[in-house]
Amino acid sequence: MSEDKLDKDSGFVVDTGFELVKANCTACHSAALVTQNRMNRETWLETIRWMQKSQGLWPLGESEKVILDYLAKHYSPTKTGRRKNLPAHLMPAVEK
Ligand code: HEC
Repeated sequence: MSEDKLDKDSGFVVDTGFELVKANCTACHSAALVTQNRMNRETWLETIRWMQKSQGLWPLGESEKVILDYLAKHYSPTKTGRRKNLPAHLMPAVEK
């Protein structure tokens, strides 16, 4: 897989929907709060609904689907970024 191209200012992966995410999701907190999170589509939607209910996030209208597609594609638990998983011998031992 080719390396993702990252936006210089925000650190977001440059792909479809990235401008919408940059425009709507960096007004109140840094982009890093978004990019360091890993959620599936459903949990991203819950996070958006939570911000709309309690943090003053505006309705995203038509953009919401595009934003969710983008977040689920690039910031989901299966997409862990460049850092590889720890090898098994570095993981904490499981108590038997
Ligand atoms: C109107 C303001 C506002 C906008 C716009 C906004 N957020 Fe937030 N968001 C917040 C606040 C406030 C918090 C809580 C910040 C904190 O805990 O420091 C937050 C927290 C978060 C968190 C952390 C949630 C957690 O459980 O730790 C994520 C992820 C997030 N926002 C993503 C987004 C995304 C994606 C968008 C764009 C769709 C967005 N935010 C737009 C206000 C906003």
